[in-house]
Amino acid sequence: MTKMNPQQIPENIVIFDTTLRDGEQSPGASMTLEQKVEVAALLDDMGVDIIEAGFPIASDGDFEAVSEIAKNAKNAVICGLARASFKDIDRAGEAVKYAPKSRIHTFIATSPLHMKYKLNMSPDDVLEKIAASVARAKSFTDDVEWSAEDATRTEPDFLCRVVETAIKAGATTINLPDTVGYSLPNEYQSMFEMVLNRVPNADKVVFSTHCHNDLGFAVANTMAGIAGGARQVECTINGLGERAGNAALEEIVMSMRTRQDILPFDTGIQSQLLVRASNLVAAVAAFPVQYNKAIVGKNAFAHESGIHQDGMLKNAETYEIMTPESVGVKATNLVMGKHSGRHAFKEKLSDLGYELGDNAFLDAFTRFKQLADKKKTIYDEDIIALVDSEISEANKSISLVSLEVAVSSDRPAEAILVLNIDGKHKNHIATGDGGVDATYNAIKALTTDTQNLLRYQVQAVTEGTDAQAHVSVRLEENGKQVIGQGVDTDTIVASAKAYIAALNKLMLKRQQLHAQ
Ligand code: KIV
Ligand code: ZN
Repeated sequence: MTKMNPQQIPENIVIFDTTLRDGEQSPGASMTLEQKVEVAALLDDMGVDIIEAGFPIASDGDFEAVSEIAKNAKNAVICGLARASFKDIDRAGEAVKYAPKSRIHTFIATSPLHMKYKLNMSPDDVLEKIAASVARAKSFTDDVEWSAEDATRTEPDFLCRVVETAIKAGATTINLPDTVGYSLPNEYQSMFEMVLNRVPNADKVVFSTHCHNDLGFAVANTMAGIAGGARQVECTINGLGERAGNAALEEIVMSMRTRQDILPFDTGIQSQLLVRASNLVAAVAAFPVQYNKAIVGKNAFAHESGIHQDGMLKNAETYEIMTPESVGVKATNLVMGKHSGRHAFKEKLSDLGYELGDNAFLDAFTRFKQLADKKKTIYDEDIIALVDSEISEANKSISLVSLEVAVSSDRPAEAILVLNIDGKHKNHIATGDGGVDATYNAIKALTTDTQNLLRYQVQAVTEGTDAQAHVSVRLEENGKQVIGQGVDTDTIVASAKAYIAALNKLMLKRQQLHAQ
């Protein structure tokens, strides 16, 4: 990369976010329709140019999520993924048609290994499929992206031929993915330079990177792809994605912002929303972010050692290469506690990026006051967890009234539970293998026991023994999955809230099924 002169205007890099497609393919990270719509709305507000909302042929749920996101889109282009078959492409075209700006992304593998063993197709068959699939996608929208799956293990001459074929058929964006995270940065850069130099009309389309992190190079490769001529990058919030994940959006965006002295590029992303997007995706996908994750990790702006703290107090630039505020972490925190009033709470919510309606605000304020009675210091993460769980717990017909749990090292735990079910109080006493098991047995006895618990996960939202526990559970019934979240200073109460939140969602699904 060359040094940028101070007057130079940075070139725009298009951000293509695939959290809801490649990210969601991550084992255990599936999201519900409502959660996907919520994530898409935040990505749109944040300035993401293209949202890959899903793979519509994969399931009815994926199709519905893509169409719902398309209907709600504001500025972002909404994209649906399709393999190189007409059935896939037609379904994707149908799903994205309500978006003011839509894209179809179609792909086929081009490496010898994939063509022979996965597709069982000859190179000529693949070329034919590319021409036909891109032309089909063009009949739905002018904005067609074509990807050479496993591009980095594709023979260079054949890679040029496939790209030429896709451009001739009308593709407007060409993506060259490092599907298995195999490439090194200098190789990835050279691949783009080679294709851009050799393929006729390469200058008429936008080239894109798509990097997986199997060797830990996803972001480095993305930056190398830009150096090689790519002007779109495909990435996900928190680097969520298959196996070791995809290139992390927040790292790419902040690399350009922080090293603008040497990288003459920028994006339209409002970086102050990065931490909020990270928190939301981590919560809805039930996929915690590692503490030392670049940009959005809990410790990304924490300074513990005396030497560092001393340097920070003298000049923050000694140990911070970007400000916490630039990614949405407030450095000068409004300290919230039981004496904070509505005004301060509203101000705090707005600092954290939440604009709640009157009723939702009052609900959140009441819960904040309840929390402040139990907990001395309320951190931003406490409030985010509280508001996010408030939003996702709308529509409840079951709620927790009271829970008492007795645990002992000598006998099974016992839970005494009172629930409000459709306006009536019902109680039950159950035992179990530990407090959570006893509580869940009591909930099942008062409600239903036809659902399977697929996943139970606890995370401390803040520090200390009075930290809020954030529990996430995934329930399944007749192939339908729901996720419930619960937050409380007590892990067993948070567990009960999470299970009840999931049950409420499951009940809605049952009613919808019944109505059909
Ligand atoms: O990794 C990959 O190759 C993909 C394609 C579908 C673009 O996700
Ligand atoms: Zn991928």
